[in-house]
Amino acid sequence: MPPPRTGRGLLWLGLVLSSVCVALGSETQANSTTDALNVLLIIVDDLRPSLGCYGDKLVRSPNIDQLASHSLLFQNAFAQQAVCAPSRVSFLTGRRPDTTRLYDFNSYWRVHAGNFSTIPQYFKENGYVTMSVGKVFHPALGLLQDDSSHHCVPGISSNHTDDSPYSWSFPPYHPSSEKYENTKTCRGPDGELHANLLCPVDVLDVPEGTLPDKQSTEQAIQLLEKMKTSASPFFLAVGYHKPHIPFRYPKEFQKLYPLENITLAPDPEVPDGLPPVAYNPWMDIRQREDVQALNISVPYGPIPVDFQRKIRQSYFASVSYLDTQVGRLLSALDDLQLANSTIIAFTSDHGRQSMDLVELVSLFPTLAGLAGLQVPPRCPVPSFHVELCREGKNLLKHFRFRDLEEDPYLPGNPRELIAYSQYPRPSDIPQWNSDKPSLKDIKIMGYSIRTIDYRYTVWVGFNPDEFLANFSDIHAGELYFVDSDPLQDHNMYNDSQGGDLFQLLMP
Ligand SMILES: *[C@@H]1O[C@H](CO)[C@@H](O)[C@H](O)[C@H]1NC(C)=O
Ligand SMILES: *[C@@H]1O[C@H](CO)[C@@H](O)[C@H](O)[C@H]1NC(C)=O
Ligand SMILES: *[C@@H]1O[C@H](CO)[C@@H](O)[C@H](O)[C@H]1NC(C)=O
Ligand SMILES: *[C@@H]1O[C@H](CO)[C@@H](O)[C@H](O)[C@H]1NC(C)=O
Ligand SMILES: *[C@@H]1O[C@H](CO)[C@@H](O)[C@H](O)[C@H]1NC(C)=O
Ligand SMILES: *[C@@H]1O[C@H](CO)[C@@H](O)[C@H](O)[C@H]1NC(C)=O
Ligand SMILES: *[C@@H]1O[C@H](CO)[C@@H](O)[C@H](O)[C@H]1NC(C)=O
Ligand SMILES: *[C@@H]1O[C@H](CO)[C@@H](O)[C@H](O)[C@H]1NC(C)=O
Repeated sequence: MPPPRTGRGLLWLGLVLSSVCVALGSETQANSTTDALNVLLIIVDDLRPSLGCYGDKLVRSPNIDQLASHSLLFQNAFAQQAVCAPSRVSFLTGRRPDTTRLYDFNSYWRVHAGNFSTIPQYFKENGYVTMSVGKVFHPALGLLQDDSSHHCVPGISSNHTDDSPYSWSFPPYHPSSEKYENTKTCRGPDGELHANLLCPVDVLDVPEGTLPDKQSTEQAIQLLEKMKTSASPFFLAVGYHKPHIPFRYPKEFQKLYPLENITLAPDPEVPDGLPPVAYNPWMDIRQREDVQALNISVPYGPIPVDFQRKIRQSYFASVSYLDTQVGRLLSALDDLQLANSTIIAFTSDHGRQSMDLVELVSLFPTLAGLAGLQVPPRCPVPSFHVELCREGKNLLKHFRFRDLEEDPYLPGNPRELIAYSQYPRPSDIPQWNSDKPSLKDIKIMGYSIRTIDYRYTVWVGFNPDEFLANFSDIHAGELYFVDSDPLQDHNMYNDSQGGDLFQLLMP
């Protein structure tokens, strides 16, 4: 969840794009164990392109910017569903949510959909030591009391084991302080401790005297030290919690963003013409004690302007805190002289932006290709019985040139590039579980197509027992043109030919 801009939940629904920086440390793509490339996959939770490398003038992200400066930086990368478990299971298996059949948190794809291979599993089967640190598949976060709908509840989406033993050589590491994330550890103006949305902390004062992302960095560095002398190549996935809510971060990062310097979102109003089904009522944010105290009306708000500024401040501070963790990790890779033999992929599970359109579902074939492994074949339709295949594209051609700055990738025909995503809803009108309906409650599915010219969404009837969308049963539609309406404030659906365009574009 990005800092909510009053009434603009919609931007983060079906069409949420993610930032992916991929650094290729070496051109060598040999297959022998000795000179195989390692992989470091950094997954950040709920990071949008509020980063210097995406042109953000306010946010301080020097370490990520440095990585991006010698990486291929995708400007327009889309997650397939902007909810942590479905998004991660999708890109880690290389299958779309309609194939993993995971739209909520409550099923394990191997038994529920098909026995699909994962990226780490594939590397493991190809002789890699594969390791997971932090939030890669799905964490077991401490819950807010009475909160059965929290974003990342311990579910069975990776069988409570982060898909062990299939994906990982060792049991995955979870930071011990993860359990305090949603507990009363935030000092409020009343001097008491609360479970707040805004939670700048003195790290020395919090339980265990540390934070989950700091612990994950330390663990990842220890693993890199061990791997330094390993005969096998490694695949290390490091999942960071921030900037996901709550914004629980070392308070010194707040100083980077004086409140008076924080601007409001450019378009904070609920757009005219937004179908109610598209609106995200940000229930998870409302449950935090500091937000509850504001008594914000459901579902449309607005959030008081002062509080909007504070949310943005804490989001940016969380990004800068995350950036220092990434910096520590990448310095260790350098110090251990592993940087020239390691492919670094940096991505978020949600997030957004605006050149090349890519989908996160393409990460699997692309990483396999970069490491010199055989790229899994394209999936047949349907592919529930096929364990190893890809629904995404192999983006290897983007990396063909050694000097990316001198010889940038030139897309063939950008008009052929399309990114797909989807988001489920329990009802046409925003309600308590609109953000994260359980499978049985899903009645409507929003399918989005994004091209370089427009974003097009249809909200259609969905049968959760059969996993069937009914494209004759259109509940609402959205159409936004990138050039004339980059912030997606003017829904042109009724002015277009509606469904005809969709029929034309569905694969
Ligand atoms: C699923 O795949 C794993 C890994 O390839 C394999 O060990 C397991 O036997 C498979 N399970 C089924 C039910 O096919
Ligand atoms: C899921 O975990 C349970 C309990 O550990 C185990 O018995 C079961 O075999 C696992 N499922 C799969 C598909 O591996
Ligand atoms: C805040 O804004 C003022 C005026 O634009 C600028 O001089 C100052 O450097 C800014 N402070 C920070 C920390 O960015
Ligand atoms: C589009 O048409 C539908 C059905 O007539 C109507 O309910 C909706 O308000 C219209 N939307 C806009 C943006 O005009
Ligand atoms: C909360 O807001 C509603 C109207 O939106 C009002 O009726 C109610 O009295 C408010 N409650 C508190 C505790 O301020
Ligand atoms: C990486 O750099 C180290 C030290 O600079 C060197 O010993 C090693 O051979 C290099 N590895 C590759 C694959 O270039
Ligand atoms: C690398 O080796 C693995 C098995 O060791 C094999 O499956 C794969 O096809 C090889 N890749 C290439 C590019 O030769
Ligand atoms: C699909 O929706 C249309 C229009 O509402 C309806 O007539 C039809 O029965 C639905 N089909 C299925 C399979 O439910």
